[in-house]
Amino acid sequence: MISVTIYKEYNSLPVLDVKDLSFEEGKIYALIGGNGSGKSTFLKSMANVIKFQGKTDFGAVKPSEIGYLPQKNFAFDMSVKGNMMLNCGKRKKKDALREATELLEKFDLARYAKKNAARLSGGETQKLALCRLLFGNYKILLLDEPTASLDINSTLKAEENIKEYLSSRPTTLFMATHSLRQAKALADYVIYLENGHIEEITETEEFFRNPYSEKARLFLSFHTDF
Ligand SMILES: Nc1ncnc2c1ncn2[C@@H]1O[C@H](COP(=O)(O)OP(=O)(O)OP(=O)(O)O)[C@@H](O)[C@H]1O
Ligand SMILES: [Mg+2]
Repeated sequence: MISVTIYKEYNSLPVLDVKDLSFEEGKIYALIGGNGSGKSTFLKSMANVIKFQGKTDFGAVKPSEIGYLPQKNFAFDMSVKGNMMLNCGKRKKKDALREATELLEKFDLARYAKKNAARLSGGETQKLALCRLLFGNYKILLLDEPTASLDINSTLKAEENIKEYLSSRPTTLFMATHSLRQAKALADYVIYLENGHIEEITETEEFFRNPYSEKARLFLSFHTDF
């Protein structure tokens, strides 16, 4: 079980206030909500990259087993393959090189293996950031809008790759997304945020069919993509 209490303010203004939440291990949670609702703040707090008041308890999962993909993607100023190798863990070099190439192929990036990653396009950089993260071995993944800059083909491929990762090892995934189609396709539960508060956490099918909070209902009424 993962338990979370987070209070975060910037300049004395609260931006996230969530209390005594519990999450089941091995499930996929989609974080949805408008701009500024607190999705990234939630993920940054979980990843422990910002200071906050409260506590996150990941049970037996060690900090090194938590993988975080920030919303602002970046690539290191070295080859695409070099970027991958930074996250090769304890693999032997030969295995790491082979597996890195296999994973790059799944993201349609293998042809850029020798290219300097700083020269990739915006979407390619995002694909590489996700690919590099999925080269690691994590028990909890925190993905902040992992496909926001991707075209639809790349998005569907990235979703397949995420699913493959999850099916190959027990992993809990928290993923912020503005794509309700994506939330519906991937998640077991939807977490709906507004104004730094979680208004609803509901099993995905039920959330899209019949959300219990008025706020989520209104939010869904503005969407047609699911
Ligand atoms: N470093 C910061 N300093 C001041 N305010 C911040 C900072 N980071 C975030 N905020 C504020 O906190 C609120 C929540 O931001 P957050 O990034 O969590 O939203 P979000 O739900 O991820 O939005 P988006 O969909 O645009 O990514 C926003 O109002 C934002 O302006
Ligand atoms: Mg965000």
